[in-house]
Amino acid sequence: MEKRNSFKGSLGFVLAAAGSAVGLGNIWRFPYLAAKDGGGLFLFVYIILALTFGFTLLTTEVAIGRKTKQSPLTAYGVVHPKWKALGILGCLVPMIIMPYYCAIGGWVIKYFTVYLTGQGVNASQDGYFGGFITSVWAPIIFMVIFLGVCAYFVIRGVNDGIEKMSRIIMPALVVLVLIISIFALTIKYQDQDGLRTGLQGFKIYVVPDFTGITLSGFLSVVLDAMGQLFYSLSVAMGIMIAYGSYVSDDSNLVKSINQIEIFDTLIAFLAGVMTIPAVYVFMGREGMSASGPSLMFVSLPKVFVAMGPIGNAIGILFFAMVLFAAITSAVSILEAVVSSIMDQFKVNRTKATVIETLIALVVGIIVCLGYNVLYFEKTLPNGAVAQVLDILDYISNNIFMPVAAILTCILVGWIVKPEYIIGECTKNGESFGRKGLYQVMIKFVAPVLLFVLLVKALGLIPNL
Ligand code: PHE
Repeated sequence: MEKRNSFKGSLGFVLAAAGSAVGLGNIWRFPYLAAKDGGGLFLFVYIILALTFGFTLLTTEVAIGRKTKQSPLTAYGVVHPKWKALGILGCLVPMIIMPYYCAIGGWVIKYFTVYLTGQGVNASQDGYFGGFITSVWAPIIFMVIFLGVCAYFVIRGVNDGIEKMSRIIMPALVVLVLIISIFALTIKYQDQDGLRTGLQGFKIYVVPDFTGITLSGFLSVVLDAMGQLFYSLSVAMGIMIAYGSYVSDDSNLVKSINQIEIFDTLIAFLAGVMTIPAVYVFMGREGMSASGPSLMFVSLPKVFVAMGPIGNAIGILFFAMVLFAAITSAVSILEAVVSSIMDQFKVNRTKATVIETLIALVVGIIVCLGYNVLYFEKTLPNGAVAQVLDILDYISNNIFMPVAAILTCILVGWIVKPEYIIGECTKNGESFGRKGLYQVMIKFVAPVLLFVLLVKALGLIPNL
């Protein structure tokens, strides 16, 4: 068996983990939720939750990884022999996410090439995105390219692949995000409703709006922020266990975890600075209700065209940035599964990557065909009308992930006790500032909050 790799330095780990955390969720959901949930109010709640709830879950997973030196599939059995089965859930989640994340990654490559070849005007036309995903071959081809790139980095290994890639891509991503954010703040546009500026859009984003806020309205903001945070930190996907298992024993976990959280939250915040002012200036307040694929592939192309000649260049930068964010996330998902196959079946990295890539390929093709040959409409318990992609997304994010996280809290909080994690984080004499908070969170608060999230996702609580 190959010797287990480890990241060369804390920075490599922080950048790789931040690369996982910063993904499509930061770009297409965080700004939308912030705009919907009272701007600064949402930001405030999100930051508080990141420092408490997010910190607890992230610390737990990374520490389990480093302590056991095992993949998500095999780690739980080492923590406690009776809890081996939780590893299956921990490995199933990334297996479900990988194919559809690659399908979306393929869409991003498609739009990147569209802007690169100067066809931004076409992409802004009504029906362009629908036309693309309902065609049979193009989405499959782009998905295969995306998957191939991810497989390449994972086959190259932890140091030469994942760590090296993160050290190059993450700084580039930050530069792109800053350029686009600054640009977004300077734009203005005049139409029959008057002049709108980027700075006005920015104010809508950051100034807390308490108008008409009720207790149930506030609770719904908290739930939105929590759901977003949970997804955004890449917890309960097996990833942080896998990456944690590559962190060297002498590095300071708590410090790295703080850095990962700051990175993720900062990029999510800046994603709002990039998109909200631009959408507000060119589409007004109504335009701001878009999120997910419709924000990225339908609304923003219209915004880029409205910007005039410079719009195409901004489109190139924007989709390059999204592509970077998506690749580093997808690589982490793939690594979670590959490390599981390697640890469980004692096969080498290349073989394990080929196996999972083939699985993702087959399921990914089904996801792509879900918009044409295999099209159907299924209503989910939460009311959304879904195709194959949405069903996989629903099962992983709304059911499996909260369940896996709740069980992890029970295992750590009540069976092996929080000291198991705290001990791992402080084994070189590091200080663990939020010790008391961690104990209360992992035992009581986090599982209860996650349970509420699960119940809401199952459609059992009417919309607050
Ligand atoms: N944290 C990622 C995001 O915000 C979620 C994710 C990570 C999804 C890895 C898939 C793979 O988008």
